[in-house]
Parts: sequence; structure tokens; C-alpha cells
Amino acid sequence: MNVPKHVAIIMDGNGRWATNRGLKRSMGHLEGSKTLEKLAIHAIDMGVKILSVYAFSTDNFKRSKEEVDYLMDLFIKMFNTKFEKINKKGIKVVISGRKENLRADVIEAINTIEEKTKNNSAGILNICLNYGGQEEIIDGAIKLAEDIKNGLDIKNFTKEDFYHYLYQDLPPIDLLIRTGGELRLSNFMLYELSYSEFYFTNTLFPDFDKSEFNKALFMYEHTDRRFGGLNVKENN
Ligand code: FPP
Repeated sequence: MNVPKHVAIIMDGNGRWATNRGLKRSMGHLEGSKTLEKLAIHAIDMGVKILSVYAFSTDNFKRSKEEVDYLMDLFIKMFNTKFEKINKKGIKVVISGRKENLRADVIEAINTIEEKTKNNSAGILNICLNYGGQEEIIDGAIKLAEDIKNGLDIKNFTKEDFYHYLYQDLPPIDLLIRTGGELRLSNFMLYELSYSEFYFTNTLFPDFDKSEFNKALFMYEHTDRRFGGLNVKENN
């Protein structure tokens, strides 16, 4: 089976999942966090090596204080206590995004989960938190500019080399999944998604279970990726 090495998910639709049931939006985020825990383990079982997820964008700070506070408290709870299964599975958890604007207790929980799982090697769960794709490219460009100032020779600098300047030095994304029915990227991992396949579904994230994930893997398996070239049959 042709399994994507790096899968990314825009976890959209938590709020609608909750309001459809007459619940507060926060209940959708809680349910979404349970879905994420199960999916991270399932993805590794299916042979995926890296799962990147959009947990909180730099723009999500525009939401109500109540919702932002709920999400931050949920991240803390998940990182401090609920990620035990993920740790036992051997998954290394890394957090991508800008640390400024984050509460001190959130940064502490990020450090705790990264430290606790740093030697795990079964797979990587990359959680994008206070994350923006354009911001990641800008932050990388600033680091590169500093290296150039310190004497780095960029005569033969390649697009692969720029990956070292992103928040995590992960390989390109093979498959992007967006739940919740919208057809947009919302400033998510713009550099890493350059050659990705896209899978859009109306399913709301809390309902995106293992069988829904497998449908995306099935679509990927039957996709002919050409990276701008021709496939083997056409070439011959
Ligand atoms: C978008 O749905 C979802 C979010 C902004 C938050 C996603 C967070 C989780 C799934 C929890 C993850 C937990 C951890 C520990 C990383 P929305 O609220 O915009 O949904 P809507 O479009 O229906 O309003």
C-alpha cells in the first residue's frame, strides 16, 4: 500500500458539531480533542510517520475570550494529563507556532509534553498552535537572514534547504485533509503543502473517525502524483 509519510489535517467543524446538538461550541472542541487522540494513534498504525494538525491559528485570537480561554485550558489539560496513550504509543509530540502571546501556563504545558516525548520514535504528532503559514515563512526568512549576516554562503541554496528554517525540520506534506466542508487553506503550512494532495470532506472534525481517515488514505493510494512531471506510463 502506498501510504503518505506526512499527513496534515485542518480540524474544522467543532463549533458546528456542538451547535447542531444544542451544545456550547466548547463541547465541540472537547470532542475534537478526543478525535485527535484516536486519530494520532490510528495514523501510526496505518503506517503514517508524521501527522501535523491545525489546533489554533494566529487569527483564532479574534474569537471570544471565553472560547480562547477554553481552548488554552484544553491544550494544557491534554498536554499535562491526557496524552498518556500517545506517549505510550511512542509518538513524539512537537508544537509549532509563535510562543509570544501564549499564556505562561500554556508554554509550560508545551515544554512538558515536548520534553516527556522527545525520545519517542514511532512517529511524530506536530501540533500547530498560535500558528500561521505566512508567519512561519517570515520567521524562517529572518533566521536565514541572520545566518547570511554571519557568513552563510547561499549561492547553491535550494528549496529543500529552506525546510531547515521552518519551525520543525519535517518532510513535505503528502496529503492534506480538511474537514468541515470549506475549500480553503486558511494560512496552514503553505511551504510544506506545495506538492500535497488535497482531501476535502463535509464531515465535521469530531465525527472524523478511523474509517473516515481511511477513506482519505484510499483516495491518496489511487492518486497518480507527478510533481509537475509526467507519470511513468505517459513518459514511455
Ligand atoms: C476549528 O473548528 C477548530 C479549532 C479552531 C480548534 C481545533 C482544536 C481541537 C480539535 C482540539 C485539539 C486539541 C489538542 C490537544 C491539540 P471551528 O470551531 O472553527 O468550527 P466551526 O467552523 O464549526 O465553527
